[in-house]
Order: sequence, then C-alpha cells, then structure tokens
Amino acid sequence: MDKIVSLCRRRGFVFPSSEIYGGLGSAYDYGHYGVLMKNNVKARWLESMIQERDDIVALDSAIILNPRVWEASGHTQLMHDPLVDCRACKLRFRADALDQAQCGLKPSKHPGEFKDCDLTEPREFNVMLATSFGVLEESAAKVYLRPETAQGIFLNFKNVLQIARRKPPFGIAQIGKSFRNEITPGNFLFRTREFEQMEMEFFVPPDEADEWYRYWVEERLGWYTRYGIRESKLRVRPHEPDELSHYSQATSDVEYLFPIGWLELEGVANRGDYDLRQHSEHSGTKLEYVGEGGERYVPHVIEPAGGPDRSMLAFLVDAYDEEVVAERERTVLRLHPAVAPVKAAVLPLIAKDEGMVRHARALYEELRTRHMVEYDEGGAIGRRYRRQDEIGTPFAFTVDEQTVGDETVTVRDRDSLAQERLPIGGVQDWLEEALERPWKTPKGD
Ligand code: GAP
Repeated sequence: MDKIVSLCRRRGFVFPSSEIYGGLGSAYDYGHYGVLMKNNVKARWLESMIQERDDIVALDSAIILNPRVWEASGHTQLMHDPLVDCRACKLRFRADALDQAQCGLKPSKHPGEFKDCDLTEPREFNVMLATSFGVLEESAAKVYLRPETAQGIFLNFKNVLQIARRKPPFGIAQIGKSFRNEITPGNFLFRTREFEQMEMEFFVPPDEADEWYRYWVEERLGWYTRYGIRESKLRVRPHEPDELSHYSQATSDVEYLFPIGWLELEGVANRGDYDLRQHSEHSGTKLEYVGEGGERYVPHVIEPAGGPDRSMLAFLVDAYDEEVVAERERTVLRLHPAVAPVKAAVLPLIAKDEGMVRHARALYEELRTRHMVEYDEGGAIGRRYRRQDEIGTPFAFTVDEQTVGDETVTVRDRDSLAQERLPIGGVQDWLEEALERPWKTPKGD
C-alpha cells in the first residue's frame, strides 16, 4: 500500500488534502491523472448501468435532504458504529474492526492484544455529519450531509415511475459524494470521511427479489473482472445475520484482496420494501406500483452499492507491478486500457529535430480529437517511457528519423514491451482497434 500511496503522489494521482496546513486526516485531493482515472471508473460504471441496458435511468439528487428523510430511513436512530476507547494509548477504535487497526502502544499488535491495552466497553456513535442550513444562526435548521446516495433515489421513485414511465423491474442509478464521520478512516482511499458512491436501486416485484439479488451479485463481480481485476483476488462474502444493516434482508460483499487483507469493495443488498414503506409512512405519499389492471404492490429493492474511490484503489493495487528489464528496474501500472488515465503517448525521439516535432505534433493533434493522449518531448526517451509506464499508459508512439523519411512510427506496448512500425496515417484506426481489443492482465489470474 505504501508503494501505491507514494506512486500516486509522485505522479500526481492523489495528494493529501490541505497539506500546507498540516493536512486533514484521511482527506485527499485528486490530481490530474487521478481525476482522469476516477472519471473512467465512473464512466464504465454508468455505461454498464445505463448505456448497455434499457431498464435503468440516471439521477443526480441533492446532498442535503430534508432531515425527516434520515428519521424515516432509520439513519438518525440506527447509523451507529460501536466504538471503544483505549485508556492506555487514548486512541479510539471501531469495536467491530479491531483486527484492521493497530495498537497505539505496539503497532505490530491489534488493539486489545498488547498486555497494556485497556479498552472500554463499546459505545454507540452516530456517523452522520451535521451542518446548518440557512443564514440566520437562530433559525438555521440542523441538517445532515448524506451518508449514502441511496435515499435520494427512494425519494424520486414516484417521479421516475410517472415521468420516465417505468414499471418494475427497473432501476435508478446515481454517482455522488457521501459523508460519514468514520471513527477509523484510513488505508489511503479505502475509508475516508468524504467519498463518492456509485449506487443503483433496482425496484422489483416482491416475488422476484431473490432472483434479482443473485443476478446483481454476479453482474457486479463480473464488472470488476471485465476491467482487469484478477479473479483470484475477488470473492463474494455473504453477510452473517448479525452483520446485516438495519434495512437489509440479505447482503453479499464483493471483496478484494488488498495488501491489508480481504475487504469490501462493494455491497449488494436485498433491502426488501423497507425504504419505500418507511418513506410512505413518514411522508404520507404512497410509494407503490399500480399496474394497468389495478394490481398494486410495494416493490422490493436490490441495491448494488460501490464507490469509485475504493474501486480505483483496487484497480491501482491490482495493476501495480515491478520488473527488471535489461538490468533496469521499472514500475508499471498494468491498467485495463478502459480505466487507464491516458490511452497513448506521442513522443518525438529528439525534441530539437524540427521534422520529428512537426510529425509528432500533427499525430498528437489528430489522436486527441478522440482520446486522452499525451505529448511528451522532455528528457531521454527511456525516462519518458518509464513515466508513461508509471501512469499506466498502454501505448506509446515514437516519432524518429525514419518517420521523417517514410511516414511510419513505432508503437510500444506497455505490457509486453513489443515494438512494431505502423504507417502514421493508420495510427488513429490502429489505436481505436487496440483499445477495443479484449484485455487480460499479464499478471495471471
Ligand atoms: N447504500 C448502502 C451503503 O451505503 P455501504 O456498504 O455502507 O452501503 C457502499 O457503502 C460502498 O460505498 C462501499 O462498498 C464502498 O465502496 C463505499 N464506501 C462506503 N464508505 C466509504 C468510505 N468511508 N470511504 C470510501 N468509500 C466508502
């Protein structure tokens, strides 16, 4: 994990937030390549949810909702984490995640395992972040930054039913920021207090809920392997009954084997009719489906809920590789081209050669009309290749003396390091085809 954190910083993917003021624990800013990569993760998710299907529509709901929403959803009363304090080291830990935390006195041990640890009994702690809405302090309402995007979807159930004229089974998908006052944030992007979620609520006839639950677990697992995550690093773990959230009838986590162990990437939950019933009751607006023949029911909800920050971390971890080539070490991100921040680099071999620069610039201008590509003329060619390897650029087109004579360029493959020559006029089509090709990580299964 340290290597990923260091690469992310060195290459401008992710920076610690508010750094010049000493930082703010577990808050991060995304730099250029981080933004490009996270946008790709979100775009692939939206494609799979919306573009490739007919039964899901998009939504972007507000972050701050009427506080009554959180009463109805159960978050005000139930979104608690059990927390323990250590009287010896004065640190605070999640009681249900002690095995992921380090003892403050002896970091090689977990809290409670060292002889001097002195833990309190677990206490409940609400993780919703509060703020005030309105300019006058006296009349400002206490509101919450949403701890999940899902509730905005339930509130729009009726709008979508009526205006988008949908009938179950149908889904509503949304990507957006959520906030939680996590007790033990950490492990880089894995658990932060401000993060994004990619959630989809799929409304189904009650008797189809089990079937759709199983369907979405498989579908979501397949999404991660489709974009290059090794199958051996993924597993599905059904929750034990005592782990289930207050709204859930069944949940399975898609887990990834991070360097710190198996951890949740995404949860797929069968929320039953809990949310629509709760909001119907609290708002007085009936949230149900009425068919043309007059049949009526409250749909059940299957929810795949993931996060682009956590997914991006898994994509980075899974892609990270080091190898020795011709006695030189190289670090390479073997990212699936569809999530790689930059698809190709255009490199003139000699930056002072006018002919090479002219050809390289023309090629760059042509390629950038369709793809995120980078032009780089700074430094020795070996260094430029290494830079592109570290940001995971799948292809590099090099313009050399031969290009000026015969209008061909070399293309270098990031993973195999194979090079071939192509007519410069055919590069755009070649790249198009190469980015569409099925891709499998050379790191094995
Ligand atoms: N609506 C259900 C829900 O919010 P969750 O398992 O608490 O379920 C879903 O969150 C996903 O959101 C997680 O699998 C993870 O990808 C992401 N997520 C949750 N808390 C996070 C945090 N503190 N930092 C980063 N991502 C987080």
